[in-house]
Amino acid sequence: MKILVLTAHPDLSKSQINRVWFNSIAKQQSITIRNLTEIGGPEMRFDKDAEQAILLNHDRIALQFPFYWYSSPPVMKSWMDQVLSYGFAYGPDGDKLKGKELLLLVSTGGPADSYHAGGYNNFSMDEFLKPFQQTAILAQMSYLRPFVFHGMARATLQQMADSAASMLAYLQDPELDPRVRQSKLLKELSSSPEQAKAVS
Ligand SMILES: Cc1cc2nc3c(=O)[nH]c(=O)nc-3n(C[C@H](O)[C@H](O)[C@H](O)COP(=O)(O)O)c2cc1C
Repeated sequence: MKILVLTAHPDLSKSQINRVWFNSIAKQQSITIRNLTEIGGPEMRFDKDAEQAILLNHDRIALQFPFYWYSSPPVMKSWMDQVLSYGFAYGPDGDKLKGKELLLLVSTGGPADSYHAGGYNNFSMDEFLKPFQQTAILAQMSYLRPFVFHGMARATLQQMADSAASMLAYLQDPELDPRVRQSKLLKELSSSPEQAKAVS
């Protein structure tokens, strides 16, 4: 499985957690990582054909960004607007990303308990991230459960370092696809048909 990570932080030199993640991913020879802010420049312009060719060459596409105003920084959106074009990601013959996986790697300032009904952010991350989920669906990609690190406002350096190791393991887990997970679970339960029926 070939993994591509697209990092969308406006200034990695001022980042804490995304810089730690970026550097730890960059050390993995088997993973391609690209800093969109550097590539797009101040005008956030991307070479559509080159970006699309890179996407075609990978199986799991991860979008890495800090959560800004309940979404991604603008460079992520610019890249999407320019690269996920008609006839490539959607529309007639727009099935070039079909079967690939989309994974989000996100850090938030607010703590996990704020991202619930009744918490001060009121809604869950799954709700805030729905535009990304539907983008994956439209492009016929498999949307994987996002990796979210909450609570940057109070995180310690140790917690950030620990998160890099769990993020890396998650990013490379071959069994994130919900269908793969379900079929593995069903296989495990195949010795007990009654239990298998209960989880399907
Ligand atoms: C412009 C801006 C908007 C932000 N919006 C949110 C937000 O909507 N929710 C949240 O939990 N944190 C928000 N934060 C906090 C960032 O998510 C947090 O600082 C970031 O994840 C830390 O990553 P970094 O160390 O890589 O910069 C925001 C920060 C900035 C600068």
